[in-house]
Amino acid sequence: MKLINLKNKSIASDYVAVELLKLIQSTPTATLGLATGNTMTEIYPRLSELLTANRVNLNDIKTFNLDEYVGLNSSHPQSYYTYMHELLFNHNEWNEDHIYIPRGDAPDLEDEAYAYEQRLFSIGQPDIQLLGIGENGHIGFNEPGTSFDSQTRVVDLTDSTIKANSIHFDTIDDVPKQAISMGLQSIMRAKRIILLAFGERKQEAIERLVNGSKTETLPASILQTHPNVDIIIDDVIFNYLNH
Ligand code: F6R
Repeated sequence: MKLINLKNKSIASDYVAVELLKLIQSTPTATLGLATGNTMTEIYPRLSELLTANRVNLNDIKTFNLDEYVGLNSSHPQSYYTYMHELLFNHNEWNEDHIYIPRGDAPDLEDEAYAYEQRLFSIGQPDIQLLGIGENGHIGFNEPGTSFDSQTRVVDLTDSTIKANSIHFDTIDDVPKQAISMGLQSIMRAKRIILLAFGERKQEAIERLVNGSKTETLPASILQTHPNVDIIIDDVIFNYLNH
């Protein structure tokens, strides 16, 4: 794992947007593993600008999102489908047939999760997988205690994740309690992983990831054994790690 301090979210987002652009330009058939949440909000608009400025052909690019809330349909304002379309997919000529996001309102959620994993497996390894991290060390919605062998499936969100996500909903009761999430094994198949973390709330999780041992109580620690991981942090976390 390589730790990279890029000062703040804005500079880090520019860096990651350029990494994605370079991949898309050098590999027009690339597969991107994408994440949602606050950490990613500046990357996608920046990438959209770069794609427009460079007139990039996206027809053969495939994207897989990490997760989706159970119970929200694609038109729900807080679904990750809506998030991704508003921030990224509505802005350039992405090929809708190559955009994969689990359906949180599928009639059979287990079938949906299984089919998603099969699709991911058959299309191949993502060339780059973006990750945020939960305060409790989750990646995707693989909460503490998740098996390192896990694949895409329906997961229960922990109280701390529900609370963290509640800022986007009117009341805490409106926050979905479950999600469909790629598993830890699914994530580890990516050729390159870029995990981003900013601010005080994430500092302890990053310290455990960087200095702690590999344990299922910190799901992100599985990344310690991946050959190509960049952990991008801001000054807040950098200073905390060096206190
Ligand atoms: C989102 C995801 C989650 C988030 C994590 C951090 O697709 O899989 O693991 O990356 O919960 O969320 P934010 O960025 O909102 O702090």
